[in-house]
Order: sequence, then structure tokens, then C-alpha cells
Amino acid sequence: MSTISEDKPPHDKNNPFPARLTENWLLSKEGSIKDTRHFVVDIKDSGLVYTCGDSLGVYPANKSENVQELLDVLSASGEDMVRLPKSEEDISLREALTHKLSLAQPTKKVLKALLEGGVEEETKNLLEEKLAPENNEQTKEYLENREFADLLLDFPGAQLSPQDFILNMRKLMPRLYSIASSPTVYPDEIHLTIAVVRYHTNGRDRVGVCSTYLADRAPLEESCVPVFVAKSHFGLPADDSADLIMVGPGTGIAPFRAFLQERIARGATGRSWIFFGDQHLETDYLYGDEFEKYLAEGHLDRLDLAWSRDQDYKIYVQDKVLENAAEFWQWLQDGAYFYVCGDAKRMAKDVNAALHQIAREQGGMSEEEAIAWVKNLKKEKRYQRDVY
Ligand SMILES: Cc1cc2nc3c(=O)[nH]c(=O)nc-3n(C[C@H](O)[C@H](O)[C@H](O)COP(=O)(O)OP(=O)(O)OC[C@H]3O[C@@H](n4cnc5c(N)ncnc54)[C@H](O)[C@@H]3O)c2cc1C
Ligand SMILES: NC(=O)c1ccc[n+]([C@@H]2O[C@H](COP(=O)([O-])OP(=O)(O)OC[C@H]3O[C@@H](n4cnc5c(N)ncnc54)[C@H](OP(=O)(O)O)[C@@H]3O)[C@@H](O)[C@H]2O)c1
Repeated sequence: MSTISEDKPPHDKNNPFPARLTENWLLSKEGSIKDTRHFVVDIKDSGLVYTCGDSLGVYPANKSENVQELLDVLSASGEDMVRLPKSEEDISLREALTHKLSLAQPTKKVLKALLEGGVEEETKNLLEEKLAPENNEQTKEYLENREFADLLLDFPGAQLSPQDFILNMRKLMPRLYSIASSPTVYPDEIHLTIAVVRYHTNGRDRVGVCSTYLADRAPLEESCVPVFVAKSHFGLPADDSADLIMVGPGTGIAPFRAFLQERIARGATGRSWIFFGDQHLETDYLYGDEFEKYLAEGHLDRLDLAWSRDQDYKIYVQDKVLENAAEFWQWLQDGAYFYVCGDAKRMAKDVNAALHQIAREQGGMSEEEAIAWVKNLKKEKRYQRDVY
């Protein structure tokens, strides 16, 4: 008979574990424009195992007010039974809109379906205009700022049945979150660091589905949050004597909290250097007490902080990296592993550029040599990124 460890994990993306959320508290302090939170998910007896660098997948539920709004504009009760693509059973429309389908990200497909389903003359003209090839770009931009309910308000009188309507919607996908705890220290828990997404577009307040599901709607102490562990290429070196340089502004700090906890628990001898940044020291120093304590105790060798809005010009993590270029270069020459986590669009690109600049300026390399050197660092797994 095979043992549990030889079997495939009992819970995965297709069979998530209904976990208990046991903690949900604000990391950002009063006065911050951000709502960044610490969550603890209980995975006791789930069979789920994780390693540092892994992410937790979470299946959210849509906000009931948003589901009701879509039902209203569809003139549906929610009790109608519908069948999702590739499914063999019917479920209620309310269940489909709450747990199975994304209420956001409409595409041109639904505009076409509304037109083909039959609409009043005035709406027909508007839809045809939106679908005209010469309006492609404008329509794309229009759709980016709309949810399905907005479309039904903008193009009233649609004849499409709820069943035909939902065939134009995408599946509600799980969201990933970098795990912020060490499995050695917390084998039965997973900690998360999440920036709650709330914004305003097209004259309306909007919410990110999963971050607000966890922040506002998932009840504490009930086994009902569907989760799974997503394995990652991102992780600690096996060699505990290796030095680590970690760049993680904002929520990017999450895996590095886990890395530090794990290395302290293992008694690792390698040095650790963290670059953290966010808007303001007073309000956005996520896990500040923990990192200051690690620094005082000698578990953290260097901590460089970049507060972007505490002065009238921006200071970012890459500015701190460049300020310490000589020492940073020496750490890498001594074999340090370099990690970056957080925003992909801007931060990770700029940090990557800083790394190349340091190779040129400190290593005396040409542009091509610097590119080749960074490529090799990646190949050796000494330059790892977890960016989103
Ligand atoms: C490997 C990995 C690890 C991650 N780790 C973390 C983590 O540790 N912590 C964390 O907080 N997140 C993390 N994320 C991001 C996370 O998965 C979600 O993408 C994030 O929480 C948003 O999901 P949501 O469901 O709340 O928002 P969604 O419902 O997905 O909405 C987000 C969308 O809203 C729109 N939007 C957001 N803000 C605005 C705005 N100001 N103006 C206009 N439109 C806007 C954009 O289209 C955006 O794509 C990670 C992602 C990956 C892939
Ligand atoms: N698409 C967007 O426009 C956008 C904007 C913000 C956040 N996000 C996403 O929101 C989520 C949560 O964000 P978060 O709270 O973790 O952190 P974040 O918004 O990424 O911010 C963390 C820190 O990084 C700074 N920053 C901004 N641009 C930077 C750059 N080019 N290089 C280095 N640092 C830079 C920010 O400064 P300033 O804010 O003062 O510039 C802030 O001090 C992430 O998924 C992120 O990708 C997206």
C-alpha cells in the first residue's frame, strides 16, 4: 500500500481544501491610503504541504450586491437553472454568478451576442457602432473599464436568456498569493500579505474580487475558503551558508518574511539583506516590528528602506540598491542569491535595470557582458523573481 507522501496531494487546484480563515488584520496603519492586510489560513489536517516561495491559490466568491445587480439587469430571479460549458449538471444562476463566473472582463463576444439575441432599434445602432472594425481600439478601452452589468445598462432591452448570456462570461479564476510564513515554524498555518484592491472607474466604485472576498466577506473560523498550494520555481537555496539579498517592496515582502523565519528556524549561517519600500514609514512599514527585531538580534544583517512619499521626490528600492552598489556587488561576488518579489510592471523592471547597471559600473562590464552575466546568474538560480 502506498503512503500518503507517495500519493498525489489530497487537495489541489481541482479539489481545493475548504480552509478556515483565523486572522484578518490591517498591516497598514491609520492614515495610509492602502488597505494591506495580514491573513492566517488554517490548513491543519488538510494534507497540504508547502515550502518557502510557494503561493496559496484562493477561489473567491463574487460580492452578493454585484451578483444581485447583474440579476436585476438580466431581469432574472437567480433561481433559473443554467449549465456551464463542459458541465453535466445544472446549477442556479445565482450560484453560477457567485462562485463560477467572472462578473468583470467582458469581451466583444458578449456585445455580438446581445446584438444577435435581438435588441431595440436604438440599442442595435449603438451595438453596431461599438462592433464596427474602425472602432476597435475605442471599444477595447470601453470594455476594459466595464463589467457585465455595465453593458446591460448601456445597451438596454437585450433579449438574451440567462443561459445564453452566461456563455459569454469567463470562469472565475483562483488568485495566487505568495506565502508569508515558514512551513517549519507554521506547518499548520499559511500566512498571507494582501493589498486589498478598491478603485473607481467609469463613475463607480469597484472592488478586486479575491482581495475583498478575503478582507470583507470570508467569515473567520468557518471551514469555507477553498485553497490549494501552488508550487513555485522561487525558493531558498539548499545551502544554508549562502547569503540572500531580497528586494520586496509593498506586498512583495511576503515571501521574504517566510525566508527569514525559515532560515532562523534552520539555524542558517548565511547573511540576509532586505530592501523594503512603500509609501510612508509611519503607515506602511509592513511587519516593521518583526524586521527591526530580527535586525537587532542579528538574524538580519542589512535592512534598507525606501519611503516613496515621505519627501517631495521618489525614493524607490532600486535607489537604495544603487546607493549600496559596491557592497551589493561584493555580496554577489561572494555567491549571494538575489531575489525580487512584487510589482511586475514597474518595480521589477527597474530593479532589473539597476542590477545591469551595477554589473557594468562595479564589474567593469560592457552592456553585452552585463546582459550575459545576469543571464548566467538566472541560470545558476541566483537571480529569482516572483512578480505579478
Ligand atoms: C505568483 C503571484 C503571487 C502573488 N502574491 C500576492 C501577494 O502576496 N499579495 C497580493 O496582494 N497580491 C499578490 N498577487 C496578486 C493577486 O493574485 C491578485 O491579482 C490581486 O489580489 C488582485 O486580485 P483581486 O481578485 O482582488 O482583483 P481582481 O478582481 O482580479 O481585479 C484586479 C483588476 O482590477 C483592475 N484594477 C485594479 N486597480 C485598478 C485601478 N486603480 N484602476 C483601474 N483598474 C484597476 C485591473 O484590471 C486589475 O487587473 C500575486 C499574484 C501572483 C501571480
Ligand atoms: N497597475 C498599477 O498601476 C498598480 C499600481 C499600484 C499597485 N499595483 C499592484 O497592486 C498590488 C499591490 O501593490 P503593493 O501595495 O504591493 O505595492 P506597490 O503599489 O507596488 O508599491 C510599493 C512601493 O513601490 C513603489 N514603486 C512604484 N513604482 C516603482 C518602481 N518603478 N520601482 C520601484 N518601486 C516602485 C511605490 O511607490 P509609489 O506608489 O509612491 O510610486 C511604493 O512605495 C500589486 O499587485 C501591484 O502590482 C498596480
